[in-house]
Amino acid sequence: MQVPLLDLKAQYAKIKDEILAAVSQVLQSQVCIGGPKVAELEQKIAAISDCKFAVGVSSGTDAILSSLMSLDISPDDEVVTTPFTFFATAGCIARTGAKPVFVDIDPRTYNINPSLIEAAVTERTRAIMPVHLFGQMADMDLIMAIANKYNLVVIEDAAQSITSTYKGRKAGSIGTVGCFSFFPSKNLGGAGDGGMVVTNDAQLAQKIELLRKLGAQPKYFHKVIGYNSRLDTLQAAILEVKLKYLDEWSKKRREHAKIYNEAFKGLDIITPKEESFNYHIYNQYTIAVKNRNELEEYLKKNEIGHDVYYPLPMHLQECYKDLGYKMGDLPISERCSKRVVSLPIFPELVKEEQDFVIEKLREFVGE
Ligand SMILES: Cc1ncc(COP(=O)(O)O)c(C=O)c1O
Repeated sequence: MQVPLLDLKAQYAKIKDEILAAVSQVLQSQVCIGGPKVAELEQKIAAISDCKFAVGVSSGTDAILSSLMSLDISPDDEVVTTPFTFFATAGCIARTGAKPVFVDIDPRTYNINPSLIEAAVTERTRAIMPVHLFGQMADMDLIMAIANKYNLVVIEDAAQSITSTYKGRKAGSIGTVGCFSFFPSKNLGGAGDGGMVVTNDAQLAQKIELLRKLGAQPKYFHKVIGYNSRLDTLQAAILEVKLKYLDEWSKKRREHAKIYNEAFKGLDIITPKEESFNYHIYNQYTIAVKNRNELEEYLKKNEIGHDVYYPLPMHLQECYKDLGYKMGDLPISERCSKRVVSLPIFPELVKEEQDFVIEKLREFVGE
């Protein structure tokens, strides 16, 4: 049996007619940039995120970069974030010229450890950027308390966590802005790149809207130096279809997670910790084992899809060598990067496939 890490063809097969109808409608209208489809999706994403405003952009990376730019984050500034994340988080901070300052993570959730943030705050700190990794929100109460104490803005990198909650509050709705990615592998993924920023701040939403259309208002009169970063109408139409299924898909992922958790109980496998006050949407189901590289070999041999998110923490990336971090500076992230591996958890995963994954894992740990 082969089990993929993610099977988007299985998802497409179930909603093909609806997707094709939505695509056809856009093509017939030939409104391919902007238009009512993008505005409709923005309203719906704002609503499900408990935010007043949403602005569609061309990727999750652009959602983060636009947020930073709209907040005037600039070369004199520092932004505190996690090293255990996808490149875009810190990459966008560095793109503004600001300095990413990395703080180690909580090994149970893989999210930034808020109790370490305050020590990293300096006179230059302007923002905190928590990442809600793998589908679970970071500990926002503690992060917001530090932000309020030092008058910092908070940019939630919620690329992997749309509709997840923390103490009943939606991802993206607690900080100053929240950033989503519609990369195809996300719980709500398009047929290409896409992203969105949510906020309750009307001025910020307007600024991001201006930035994404080259800073022009009206057309050909440029108020600020923007860029082209719009969400395509075709993507918006596809995402609107998929949005109807998002809750159902996330529930399925949660069911699969529960089955794995039960099956791995008592084994030498660290299962993901879901905080009691969180609603985890399991964009990834990430376990940790001591002999991860051997496990990867074993999974490969048995044709079980898997991946390592992330094999090298950001503070040790070559591109950040000028920041001066060295091995040993953020030991929890470094240890996790050597031990984690993500298993298939996509909604369409069938029982036989999951049983096979479990059987092979049990075999690997010698049970
Ligand atoms: C945590 C995190 N931040 C940012 C991004 C960037 O999103 P995109 O790939 O849509 O640019 C991703 C996507 O992989 C992500 O996982």
